[in-house]
Amino acid sequence: MSNRWQVRPIIEKGHAIGGAAGCHTQCNIYCLATGLADDNATDMAFPDDFLFGAATAAYQVEDGKGESVWDYVVHNFPERVEDGTTADVTCDSYHKYKEDVAMLKELGVNFYRFSIAWTRIMPNGTADYINEAGVSYYRNLIKELKDNGIESMITLYHWDLPQQLADIGGWLEDSMIDIYAEYARTCFQLFGDDVKFWTTFNEIKEFCQLGYGEGGLPPLHYEPGIGEYKCTRVVLKAHAKAYRIYDEEFRATQNGMIGAIFDTHWFEPRTNSSEDVAAAEQGRQFSFGWFANPIVNGDYPEIMKTRIADRSAKEGFNQSRLPEFTEDEIGVHQRYLRLYRSQHCIEEPEIGDPSYSKDMAVSQYQSPDWEGSSISWLKVVPWGIRGLLNWVRETYNDPYVIVTENGYADDGVLDDDMRIHYYQSYISNVRLAMDDGVKVLAYTAWSLMDNYEWLNGYTKKFGLYNVDFNDPNRTWTPKKSMEYYKKVIATHCVIDNCTR
Ligand code: BGC
Repeated sequence: MSNRWQVRPIIEKGHAIGGAAGCHTQCNIYCLATGLADDNATDMAFPDDFLFGAATAAYQVEDGKGESVWDYVVHNFPERVEDGTTADVTCDSYHKYKEDVAMLKELGVNFYRFSIAWTRIMPNGTADYINEAGVSYYRNLIKELKDNGIESMITLYHWDLPQQLADIGGWLEDSMIDIYAEYARTCFQLFGDDVKFWTTFNEIKEFCQLGYGEGGLPPLHYEPGIGEYKCTRVVLKAHAKAYRIYDEEFRATQNGMIGAIFDTHWFEPRTNSSEDVAAAEQGRQFSFGWFANPIVNGDYPEIMKTRIADRSAKEGFNQSRLPEFTEDEIGVHQRYLRLYRSQHCIEEPEIGDPSYSKDMAVSQYQSPDWEGSSISWLKVVPWGIRGLLNWVRETYNDPYVIVTENGYADDGVLDDDMRIHYYQSYISNVRLAMDDGVKVLAYTAWSLMDNYEWLNGYTKKFGLYNVDFNDPNRTWTPKKSMEYYKKVIATHCVIDNCTR
């Protein structure tokens, strides 16, 4: 059974999976049984100008800089990290960047997505003091990439807020908008001549919802149903300001692209009943529309505004917990996305304590038939990425899209057949989405190498390269998946021979 034909009619009917759910399930079981799943692989080649890359983030691979919220938390609350470790050295990319570039070169990527550690450029978070050593480090990295024919895709903010800014309220404070904009301007000035792709923020939902709502991630601010909305408003305005600065002051000479990164899991209706279909759409709007809608259409999704205002009034608030902004505060920008998982949906929670998940009111589950990984939230559901890409095209007026992260977690084995299967089936579904008409420009594997997986420490591995964290030299070894991805990049094809 070809996955292509299982999935296509579903998309054309507009998201409902209906009776086809069984086919997906069977396919996933089959894939698991056979390891490498040719049935999930398309024979369509990618266009010649399609770009493949690999990604990391500063905090997960570098060391030595001013203190960020992550440094503060992992040093002061080691019990929050699965193995009690820190990222003080991690992959030692600060000293070994030439070796990182050698890996990228061996892999044959067109671009490398990495982030700038804000505290390496501005140790206290503001432009009052610029750390020249940090500037040199990123200049050297960008030059090394350029000399090897690899474009830089830079994330300005991958969660490592300078602790000194967290101390004055972090992303809850309007003052952050100008402070961040100045940081962004400084980076455009310092590095922009050699940078083709900029992303302002990595996965706003993750650090706003988990960092300022539920409080499980740094800076551990617990204010459910309130903090995440305050944070998002400030971050979206900071994004808009940085975007405009690039547009007005740098784009003409530097000629790059700039956007924000949103993450979501794919919400698939459990059945094709109108209630389930509506619930899935509600889930998408609450997790992706929350960010995409203000940027594309100038405001939060109507369903969020109505539901949160209504629940806030019933909870006794005198205004909505979702703070408003005016339409001219946010414009239309390029956007990128990342996807790891799919979920199903539906119900109306009782009024009580405020919470984002009650505001969303979509019950979710992951099918037990979906293949797992070493991380509970990460399931192998490749058709989800095709569903999401098509939904983005239909909902946001056919934008250009870059998949900025996609990857599989295990315990670090070198013979990582499951990772190969993951990449083959997900990259296939990206290609199928392009055949559906989605304008995907590039795909990025997460991650180039094993690294510090946030609160999972070094217990979960995403790398195409294995890193020996017990060796002071941090020696690295290519995994089997590295050879596979290398071939995909070289041939633009996920199987041995593609049709062109
Ligand atoms: C983040 C990465 C992280 C990956 C796997 C994304 O949320 O951007 O930094 O390592 O997912 O958890």
